[in-house]
Amino acid sequence: MILVLNGPNLNLLGTREPTVYGATTLSDLEGMCESWGAELGTNVTCRQSNYEGQLLEWIHEAESHGFTGIVINPGALTHYSYALRDAIAGQKLPVVEVHISNVDAREEFRHKSVTAAVCKGKISGLGVFGYRLAMDYLMEITRA
Ligand code: DQA
Repeated sequence: MILVLNGPNLNLLGTREPTVYGATTLSDLEGMCESWGAELGTNVTCRQSNYEGQLLEWIHEAESHGFTGIVINPGALTHYSYALRDAIAGQKLPVVEVHISNVDAREEFRHKSVTAAVCKGKISGLGVFGYRLAMDYLMEITRA
């Protein structure tokens, strides 16, 4: 069972800088993640918050709620949130970081991720398809 977390401003997908993030809305994206989960044979729960603390709490609770892996797009928190990094580091589930845009091709401040080092890996620049790849990977490594 996979938890898909989206952080600050990702509720605005579809209208927010569409040339950078595309036309897919958050609700489209969440629907796609659910269908991809069904194809991969797992349930998917999607959550979005603009609040750092809420994201931390979802991460803290994920294992006890039966999740086996986490896909997270932390939005701008990626670049500075040591609290988010510590929350990921402090739990056992595999986590994959996803960015819709190619953060390495954008402003300098987006090149740094404080969270990627405590994740299994990072997918950036492949649009919403990155979420699918992250889920595929989590299924692969958690298959008994
Ligand atoms: C993002 C990239 C971040 O730099 C930005 O702050 C976001 C979205 C992405 O998906 O490309 O909010 O994580």
